[in-house]
Amino acid sequence: MLAIRTQFSNHFNYNAALVVKSPGRINLIGEHIDYNHGFVLPAAIDKFIELAIGKRTDGAIHMVALDLGETIILPIHNLAPHATVWVNYIIGVVDQVFNNLPSIENNLSGNENNFAKIKDDFNGGFSICIQGNIPLGAGLSSSAAVECAVLFALNELYHLSLTKMQMALMAQSAEHKFAGVNCGIMDMFASLHGEKNKAILLDCDSLAFTYYPLALNDYSIVLFDTQIKHALASSEYNTRRLECEQGLKIIQEKYPTVKTFRDISLEQVEACLASNDVNRSKVYQRCKYVVEEIQRVQLAVQDLAKGDMQAFGKKMFETHKGLSKLYEVSCPELDFLVEAVSNNENVLGARMMGGGFGGCTINIIKKSAVEEITKALTANYAKKMHKELAVYITSIEDGTHIVEGTH
Ligand code: GLA
Repeated sequence: MLAIRTQFSNHFNYNAALVVKSPGRINLIGEHIDYNHGFVLPAAIDKFIELAIGKRTDGAIHMVALDLGETIILPIHNLAPHATVWVNYIIGVVDQVFNNLPSIENNLSGNENNFAKIKDDFNGGFSICIQGNIPLGAGLSSSAAVECAVLFALNELYHLSLTKMQMALMAQSAEHKFAGVNCGIMDMFASLHGEKNKAILLDCDSLAFTYYPLALNDYSIVLFDTQIKHALASSEYNTRRLECEQGLKIIQEKYPTVKTFRDISLEQVEACLASNDVNRSKVYQRCKYVVEEIQRVQLAVQDLAKGDMQAFGKKMFETHKGLSKLYEVSCPELDFLVEAVSNNENVLGARMMGGGFGGCTINIIKKSAVEEITKALTANYAKKMHKELAVYITSIEDGTHIVEGTH
């Protein structure tokens, strides 16, 4: 395949100013707790979105999705959610740049001439070619990678002076507004902040973060992709968020000093939410999981710091159980894949990863056993689930970065 820079010049008859890469992510532990003010432990991986971008002066955005062979052209002003899904990940962040002009002006510390020039330039529009190898709908955050790649590129191209955290928050808002998923901050944060061979502990309340070297030695991180892409994912995701908010409110009524799930004990969850009423008991289950998972991640990080990967892996299995039984975001295929490796001495830990209802399990597997386990699991998965298993042996890589630039 031709280099993306060449594809850009072939398509637009001028040279791209920048080529940017943005990775997908894994999450070791801390699932469905980013939007509940917990802690997550993601890392960027060796699957990525790549784009080439160059300025225009006609006030239009020309977007080419190379993998799909689709081109869409829109005026840069008055952007609204579009019927073509991938387009929303691009125009969603453009809309965010317009919405955040006051903070951009602030970042430029009152240099008015500079700001006026940037605004003018940005209104001219841009051309973009985009491609990638992050499997879609596999829970590896391909959409966040697109959003981060585009925003990072715009930040460079127009000298917007945005910090990575500002970009992560803007990309998250773009996903809410243009993709309709009320996601947390984890995916965008990880794609932008990733560092080679490091996991990142993110405090989703204060947004403080710490890098942890991931010395896996004889072990590999292996993702087993169910190849199930449930349509339920975004609606159920938003429902889980609401159920948690509902539970938090009930607990706060009785314990007014409680600000977030961080401040809640399991006893308080029992006291306020345990009930025979079906709706109420769903809220109870969700909140129980969230409180347990917040505590579990904190302990898991201690395991990681001590290098006790055995204990860490055990917690991954516990997380899966919680996600499957209490939070109810798993599916039979994910449960099957976790169950199948749960008593294997060469597998330290396994669990469903990401939003759920399909996508991948994340597994920590002894390198020498990866081939054998993969072979057996692929055969059993085909036999029991009548589906082909996709397998990704992943490495941990750097976050969003410029590959080449001439601007
Ligand atoms: C999706 C969301 C994230 C996070 C995970 C679950 O990936 O985009 O914000 O909530 O699900 O942990």
